[in-house]
Amino acid sequence: MRYFFLAYALIAIMVVGIFGLRGDKSAKTPIEIFPDMDRQDKIKAQTPNSFFADGLGSRQPVEGTLPQSIGDADTQFSGAAGYLATGSIDEYYGSGMPAELELTAEALPAFIARGEERYNISCMPCHGRSGDGGGIAAQFGVPGVANLHTENFLSAKYPDGRMFEVITKGKGVMSGYGYNISLEDRWAIIAYIRSMQLAQNAPLSNPKIKDAFEAATAGLDNK
Ligand code: HEC
Repeated sequence: MRYFFLAYALIAIMVVGIFGLRGDKSAKTPIEIFPDMDRQDKIKAQTPNSFFADGLGSRQPVEGTLPQSIGDADTQFSGAAGYLATGSIDEYYGSGMPAELELTAEALPAFIARGEERYNISCMPCHGRSGDGGGIAAQFGVPGVANLHTENFLSAKYPDGRMFEVITKGKGVMSGYGYNISLEDRWAIIAYIRSMQLAQNAPLSNPKIKDAFEAATAGLDNK
């Protein structure tokens, strides 16, 4: 027991010696177990610097480049008003594709294909290829990924504009992707998700769908 107290006292002195007594003034370099990035090679804002020919520490944007928040990028990635850029009309979520996209029947297949490509890059890792929420990230532990085929996310209950806002700003555990998916591409992704939802819930009572189903499954025994 005596040795225990001795060792205990020694360790206590060591701990205080290394971590404690930090309020004292000393000219010596302190022992830093965790340096916390206190010292780093950097140029502080607004200070002169001899490294650059003009002697300025703060640099101007390189000629011919634009920061993300200026010019065209502004309407693409943040800040702009209107249904195309917000998904809302006045204070309400809108539905349907914005007129600015000038979608025609001929343009639609390419638009949806673009949406599929973008969806597979930006959303599939979590929401899965079919949109059921079973993507690879979900399998590796991202919790509560939404199954986009549940009734709550179908267009009758969930306006396109609301989906636009979720893509742009995120919701709950999901972060926003507005900063790296352009406006048009966000709408294209929504169009693609709508087409996936339709495909999942395609009613056989619709003669067109029934014909397509018959054609696709002709010759199969277990349809
Ligand atoms: C890193 C994983 C991840 C990625 C990538 C991701 N999501 Fe999500 N998403 C989630 C999670 C998790 C939720 C559930 C959020 C919650 O309710 O907390 C969710 C919820 C949603 C919802 C339902 C939101 C609501 O109102 O409840 C929609 C719609 C959605 N995501 C669409 C998308 C689209 C479109 C993309 C691609 C642009 C995308 N997500 C990319 C993880 C992700």
